[in-house]
Amino acid sequence: MYLLNDPKPTLAALYENVHTPDKLYIQIHNEWYDMAPFAARHPGGEVALRLGAGRDATALFESSHIFADQTKMKALLDKFACLRRKSNVWG
Ligand code: HEM
Repeated sequence: MYLLNDPKPTLAALYENVHTPDKLYIQIHNEWYDMAPFAARHPGGEVALRLGAGRDATALFESSHIFADQTKMKALLDKFACLRRKSNVWG
C-alpha cells in the first residue's frame, strides 16, 4: 500500500500498485476501497468501475448511482473498505 502514502506517484507506479487485474483501489468519501473482487459483478461493468482506479471517485460514484438505494450502496461499499485516509494518492 506504499502508493497511497506517496504524494506524487508516477503513472507506472499507480498502475502497478492500484490498478491491476487483482487490485482496484478507489477512494470514495475519504475511504479507500479495493473493489477488485466486485469488478466482474458490477452492474455498470468493470470498465466503468475502473474509471475510479487510484483516485478520489466520489463525484463519479455519486453521479453514476443517483437512483440506486443509498443504504444498499453503503452496505455494499463497506464490504470492500481497506484503508481510511484523509487525502488521496495525489496528496
Ligand atoms: C467509481 C466508478 C463507478 C462508475 C463509473 C459506476 C457506474 C455505474 C453505472 C453506469 C451503473 C448503471 C448500470 C445500469 O443500470 O445499466 C452502475 C450500477 C451499479 N453500481 Fe456502479 N459505478 C462505479 C462504482 C461503483 C462502486 C464502487 C460500487 C459499489 C458499491 C457500485 C455498485 C453499483 C451497483 C450496486 C449498481 C446497480 C444499482 C441499481 O441498479 O440499483 N458501483 N454503476
